[in-house]
Amino acid sequence: MCGIFGYIGERTNAGVIVIDGIKNLEYRGYDSWGIAQKHEGCILVEKNIGKISEVDTLNFQQRCSAAIAHTRWATHGGVTQTNAHPHTTTKRHIAVVHNGIIENYEVLREELKKRGHTFLSETDTEVIPHLIEEEQKITPDFASAVRSACHKLEGRYAILAMDTSSNTLVAARTGSPLIVGVAKNDGYFIASDIPAFLEHTRTVHYLDDGEMLVTDGSSILFTDLKSGEERPKRNIEITWTVEQAQKGNFDHFMLKEIMEQKETIARAVNQNEEQISVIADAIRNAQGTFLAACGTAHKACMAAEYFFSVIAEHHVNVTSAGEFKPYHHFLKPESLLIVVSQSGETADVLEAMYIAKSKGAKVLAIVNSEGSTIHREADYTLLINAGPERAVASTKALTGQMAVLILIAYTLAGKLHEGKMLLLETGSMINDMLNPRYLERIEKLAQKLKEEEDCYIIGKSWNYPMALESAIKIQEVSYIHAEGFAGGELKHGPIALIEEETPCLVLTGNDEVAIDIISNATELKARGALLIGIGPKNNDIFDEWLKVPDAGPAQAIANIIPIQILAYYLAVERGKNPDMPRNLAKSVTVK
Ligand code: M6R
Repeated sequence: MCGIFGYIGERTNAGVIVIDGIKNLEYRGYDSWGIAQKHEGCILVEKNIGKISEVDTLNFQQRCSAAIAHTRWATHGGVTQTNAHPHTTTKRHIAVVHNGIIENYEVLREELKKRGHTFLSETDTEVIPHLIEEEQKITPDFASAVRSACHKLEGRYAILAMDTSSNTLVAARTGSPLIVGVAKNDGYFIASDIPAFLEHTRTVHYLDDGEMLVTDGSSILFTDLKSGEERPKRNIEITWTVEQAQKGNFDHFMLKEIMEQKETIARAVNQNEEQISVIADAIRNAQGTFLAACGTAHKACMAAEYFFSVIAEHHVNVTSAGEFKPYHHFLKPESLLIVVSQSGETADVLEAMYIAKSKGAKVLAIVNSEGSTIHREADYTLLINAGPERAVASTKALTGQMAVLILIAYTLAGKLHEGKMLLLETGSMINDMLNPRYLERIEKLAQKLKEEEDCYIIGKSWNYPMALESAIKIQEVSYIHAEGFAGGELKHGPIALIEEETPCLVLTGNDEVAIDIISNATELKARGALLIGIGPKNNDIFDEWLKVPDAGPAQAIANIIPIQILAYYLAVERGKNPDMPRNLAKSVTVK
């Protein structure tokens, strides 16, 4: 949800640095962009609608040693040049970029208007520079004025501000992420996510909730946003590489990340055995284990409900993180909440985590982004080690999450090594499956289906959440109307939607429900559906069959991969950019 990136330091090409860097955060929002550069004592602002990736970096070569940039996912106010960030004071002596929502902006705007401030945009952000300006009348020091202004803001936000009077950048956060890249003797990079500055440094500091920072490019001071008390930070070295965060020879990040599943399952399985046993004990001893996540990660949790039942005969409660609040009545200090998140920054997941903590319950986080808020604030953590996921559509993170959840279920059943072997074998079968012929076969299927308006997916057991996930994948990148159902539910309503040649994907496995799903598919066939089987076994009723290796209890991992590829090619065949689906952003840091 919006990307922020700023630089201050020795280099004199700050404009080029931030425009190049913010392009790496485009997955966070891509409806408009903007930059403010400090040049000869003035702030130069340029902003526009459209994608930052289409902006020529060479237009920002003015000499300047401080700049802030933004790529927007609109919340308040439409997609217009005026609503794009940065927002400034009327005299343009303060500029601010912002990620998040200022909940009390209407009240603040009315008060500021009464004091003579004029507003140009429809955004909540625009009140911030005006508020800082107003605070400077009492406390002229820029950083102190930002601090006082923040005391008046309500909501979850990350802001980065610059002014003409001080030679500093000032940032503050309550809820939305901000990370500082430290380049020794060279300056500081302040960003919503690491890929923005990965080519400059891998040494980082995390700004925690309720903290602010001030930097003049040669030193940096972290303080508590409320009290002003200093918050010392240690250098953290991150392991991601520049190559991991780039597209390489692929046309899109989505395809690159799908193909990376040749290795990411094995990486997810490579967990510290002692740590995973401690976690299994925590689940065994918990009075109530809950799982909460959003979107695709939520589907991993739904699949985990089946993994825990079938593999470990252990009951867990699964809910979408956005629906977790009413569950707090069940939580006790002895409860355990497992949160699953690729980004480790999703607002609804964070809220679920804070609710559990407020009840004294312990939290296990299964995340991909090392150092993210959820990773840092959980009691127990497991990283899925998938490397940066840049496409909005989550692919390799999902299969990594499910691999870790399966491993936990096997550990809980006292069969850690059996689980490990199963998952490593699944990873190796996926490696074989992801060959050029397989991709071509699915591309052809996409060509056949590209004009369809509707598509339905059915599954049972762990393939049921995969049917829901298949629908998300197809919807979000190809914009075809897709819906997933539990096979047995069809005859209770959805079967009314089936007409002659309606495409229906049938997810199958070599499991205890194998016969049932075929019988559900037969009911669709009888109504004229075009059946596409996905699984280890072909069947006479299928019009098409995408073969998937038999992965036993890890079938959900194997089955979702051809659907990810199908969704990708459907998007490409329909002329859509799968990396930038309309209306979406990668990291949902607003509620
Ligand atoms: O970063 P998270 O895993 O917490 O994100 C959760 C969802 O926003 C995410 O999975 C979303 O549904 C994906 N775009 C789906 O592909």
